[in-house]
Amino acid sequence: MHFAGRHVISIADFDRAEIIAILDHAQRMAEAPQRDLLRGHLMATLFFEPSTRTRLSFEAAMQKLGGRVIGFSDAASTSAKKGESLADTIRMVEQYADVIVMRHPRDGAARLAASLSRVPVINGGDGGNQHPTQTFLDLYTIRSHFPQLTDAAAPPLTIGFAGDLRYGRTVHSLLHALCHFRANLLTVAPRGLELPQSYLDDAARAGLTVEACPSLAEAARRCDVLYMTRLQEERFPDPLEFDHIKATYRLTAALLRDANPRLRILHPLPRVNEIATDVDATQHAAYFTQAGNGIPVRQAILALVTGHAAQGQP
Ligand code: NCD
Repeated sequence: MHFAGRHVISIADFDRAEIIAILDHAQRMAEAPQRDLLRGHLMATLFFEPSTRTRLSFEAAMQKLGGRVIGFSDAASTSAKKGESLADTIRMVEQYADVIVMRHPRDGAARLAASLSRVPVINGGDGGNQHPTQTFLDLYTIRSHFPQLTDAAAPPLTIGFAGDLRYGRTVHSLLHALCHFRANLLTVAPRGLELPQSYLDDAARAGLTVEACPSLAEAARRCDVLYMTRLQEERFPDPLEFDHIKATYRLTAALLRDANPRLRILHPLPRVNEIATDVDATQHAAYFTQAGNGIPVRQAILALVTGHAAQGQP
């Protein structure tokens, strides 16, 4: 298992043992913060698409490890606006920084950047494709509530995916990761926003069952984890269709009346309309803790890819 110098582009690039090693490393980061581990190191954040949690938690993670940060969060203020290509931007930034975190609206942009960079590139989301570091923190959060996730002998968890399963990259990444574990998947998606066939095929090949579920209330009754997602308005081809779906798709505390008492609701955030605020005070809401888990998880990833895992660790 070798992480130093590695790019983090797709969850599919990591095997089961590597995924578990990253979760374990994040756990150690949470238990024993390391204030000087990345002192003298520089991380560049290149965000060509809006972000709050991913960029800020990467920056906080780096700074809490003693490292420093350069970057931009608005491509309109960079030479991309003058027509500079992504390739040229990467060819420079790899000379400035020890690690690059990027988000881009085009599927495959992070893979292209990685092919040009000598320093590790971490994908903070590429179009509707992948968002691997979100997946590590999603798995970390699921395992904190259900340690049996990574126990091959335990009965499978029932995990629901709800919302925009077509364009939601966090769902796509998490589904690929779950192919390494045992799970029964339930999907609740508005018509036209179901999981793309290729993800259904991948799940089937990995032996996961996938069942379409008619309502959020039924999913709440049957699931251990319900992974809610926002409708990806920016990737939606038809605004009228978007308004129609938005009005009909919303989890409320009332819909949780008969929920599985162990149910944990996750959401990568931002939420817009799909989880009413009265859900926040229920025992089921886990999404803000999930966002907080971004710090130890991203600390672990930064430390591992820059070759600065704590002593005695992989
Ligand atoms: C997600 C993303 O950017 O894909 N946000 C995040 O990183 N936490 C989810 C979303 O924007 O809906």
